[in-house]
Amino acid sequence: MSSAFFTVHRDLDREGPGEAADVHWALDVAGTPEDARILDAACGPGADMVTLAKARPSADVLGVEKQAHFVEAANARVAAFGDRVRALEGSYMELDGSFDLIWCAGAVYFHGIGPVLDTWAKHLNPGGAVAFSEPAWLIDPPSDAARAFWGDEYPTKSEDGVRDQIHAAGWGVVGQRWIVDVPWANYYGPMIARLDMLENSDPSEDLQAAIAQSRDEIAKWQAAREEVAYSLFVVRPT
Ligand SMILES: C[S@@+](CC[C@H](N)C(=O)[O-])C[C@H]1O[C@@H](n2cnc3c(N)ncnc32)[C@H](O)[C@@H]1O
Repeated sequence: MSSAFFTVHRDLDREGPGEAADVHWALDVAGTPEDARILDAACGPGADMVTLAKARPSADVLGVEKQAHFVEAANARVAAFGDRVRALEGSYMELDGSFDLIWCAGAVYFHGIGPVLDTWAKHLNPGGAVAFSEPAWLIDPPSDAARAFWGDEYPTKSEDGVRDQIHAAGWGVVGQRWIVDVPWANYYGPMIARLDMLENSDPSEDLQAAIAQSRDEIAKWQAAREEVAYSLFVVRPT
C-alpha cells in the first residue's frame, strides 16, 4: 500500500465496518468467560479492543496488527485500561500463547479461511472460539451494484460458500449474523469527513489519486448499501 493510501487510512475510528453490538453478540454466542484471554487479530486502530475490554473488565485483551501506525493508535486508545489491554506489531499468522476468543473483523481474507483456522486452532484454549467477519453475498445472486463494489479484489462468496470453507477446515459454526448498513456507515462516515479535510489541504498528486479511489469505493457502497455485507461467524474446532 502507498503512503498516500495510509494518509487516507489514518486517524479513523475504525478501518472496516463494525459496531459494538457485533462484539457483544460474539462474546455471548461464544460463551467467552469473564477472565478470558482475548486476541483481536488485525486490530487496526483498536475500536473493537475498547469494546472487548469494556465488555469483559477482568479479561486480558491483546491486539495484533501488521501496520505500526495502527498499533500506535490502538495503544493510545486503550492506555486507560492499563496492562491488561495492549496491541503489538506482528502477524496474526505468527502468534504466541493461547486464547479463549480470537476476534477478527474483516481481515481473515488476507490469508484465507482454511490457512487462518489451521493456524489459530493451535492457539485456542479448550472450549475457545473464533469470531470473524468475511465478505459475503447477502442477496445471492448479487446485483451488478454489489458486484461492482467488491470487484475482483475480494474473495466474496455466498454464506453457504463461507460455511463450506469453515467445515472443510474441520470447524463448526456456532452462530452467524450479518453486518450490513449502519456498521458500514460507521466506517465510511468518518472517512468522508477525512477525505473532505484532506482535499482542502493542497494534496499531492498521489494523495489526490488515493482520495479519488476512496470516494469511488464509497459511491459504490452507497449504490448497494442494503446489500453490501460481511457475514460474521462464531466457529469452533469440531
Ligand atoms: C479492513 S482492516 C480491519 C481493521 C480492524 N479489525 C477494524 O475493524 O478496524 C484490515 C486490517 O488487517 C491488517 N492485517 C492484514 N494482514 C494482517 C496480518 N497477517 N496480521 C495482522 N494484521 C493484518 C491490516 O493492516 C489492516 O489493519
